[in-house]
Amino acid sequence: MTSPPPHFPYTIGETVAEGRGVAVYRAVRNADGHPVVLKVLDPRSCRPKDLDRLKREYETGKTLDVGTVVRPLALERYEGRLALVMEDSGAEPLDRLLGAPMAIGRFLDIAVRVAGAVSDIHQRGVVHRDLKPANILVNSTTGEVKIADLGLASRLPRDQQAAQPARLIEGSLPYISPEQTGRMNRGIDSRSDLYSLGVTFYQMLTGKLPIQARDPLEWIHGHIARAFAAPSDVVPEVPEAVARIVIKLLAKMPEERYQTARGLRCDLERCFELWTCRGSIEPFPLGEQDVSGRLEIPQKLYGRDEEIAALLGAFERVFDTGSPESAGSSCRICPESPSRSELSTSRISSITAPTSSPTHARGRRSAGSTSWQGSRQRLRSPSLRLAATWPRRHHCCPRTPGAHGTRTRSRSTWSSQNASTSPATSSGPTSWST
Ligand SMILES: Nc1ncnc2c1ncn2[C@@H]1O[C@H](COP(=O)(O)OP(=O)(O)O)[C@@H](O)[C@H]1O
Ligand SMILES: [Mg+2]
Repeated sequence: MTSPPPHFPYTIGETVAEGRGVAVYRAVRNADGHPVVLKVLDPRSCRPKDLDRLKREYETGKTLDVGTVVRPLALERYEGRLALVMEDSGAEPLDRLLGAPMAIGRFLDIAVRVAGAVSDIHQRGVVHRDLKPANILVNSTTGEVKIADLGLASRLPRDQQAAQPARLIEGSLPYISPEQTGRMNRGIDSRSDLYSLGVTFYQMLTGKLPIQARDPLEWIHGHIARAFAAPSDVVPEVPEAVARIVIKLLAKMPEERYQTARGLRCDLERCFELWTCRGSIEPFPLGEQDVSGRLEIPQKLYGRDEEIAALLGAFERVFDTGSPESAGSSCRICPESPSRSELSTSRISSITAPTSSPTHARGRRSAGSTSWQGSRQRLRSPSLRLAATWPRRHHCCPRTPGAHGTRTRSRSTWSSQNASTSPATSSGPTSWST
């Protein structure tokens, strides 16, 4: 906002953040000198969805009315500009505290509070859907933590994300959960926020993101299928128990994560107490208090053992021979037999040997093929299993040429190029085409 409109009842001070069509300022309310934060939309450059998000942020924040969420005070319109007026608690975003690995005591202090704040939101039936360091405010003086930016928050207990182009995915790509990519056939629920917290905690502890990527498709692939180094492997000072908590949060499958932010908070508190009293943390069984009061019907599909075995068998053959297998006449995953073809539900239509190394491409088991071996291990579970449990409508053996054409078009989605170009990992040498 270049200059405030006339009769604007706030005096604008420091610019906190500026984005496309949105700016956040510290300000003072002229009537009583009360410090506030203003989030202002510029009608010339904001998009219709920014308006919706601002309204949603105001309404959700108002109804939540909890001390651990930034309190919205008013939604005001001046001269065509919409401004969300929020309390100013003097806090700064957590992303400004990131860089070098955080000291364990400080990490645990903040992490306990963040988990408590997220638990407050979840207990009121809201899923934030955009948790990341920039949306977590920390007051360095009081230690108080508040969650900001409820623009994407949802009151639906479970929300289905349709597959759509990567650039249209809502949320922040480095922090979204696998199910938020829309490529998992899994609903988004409060456990999606816990994955995002896992990414945030990983970054606090190591100064790095668990997965690195350079474009949207690489982020999507990374969240769904790529392994990451344990925080304690990156920073040896990270206690094993803390590393295991973060790894649990980052599980690809929601069922394998913490089920509640409250359960997470209990484990973090235990770590904090042990660290404060003894300066060390003995490993303990995680999730003892992690009991969800909600009836969760697992979204896992059962009864695909045969297909999974067929896929793993094909994978082994490609590994041994180096010859690709595809959904054409030579496809051994989906033979011509109608009964078997009916069972073929995987999105994988071909498995080929890696293209990143000529040795691997020939499928030889060489002493130097550790990254391929590692990938082979990773592919055995859970990603390959995930692919094998894709819904039945995605047939990998098309019955018409038209269906084949559709498949070819989306081939790049899982190409080895996306995986193997990452500087951070050696994973993904196998080409999965859909
Ligand atoms: N009440 C607040 N106090 C301090 N900083 C804030 C406050 N609200 C937002 N911010 C800062 O402004 C940034 C942008 O605000 P946010 O509401 O997240 O907008 P956007 O929708 O553009 O992400 C946040 O990442 C945070 O750093
Ligand atoms: Mg934000």
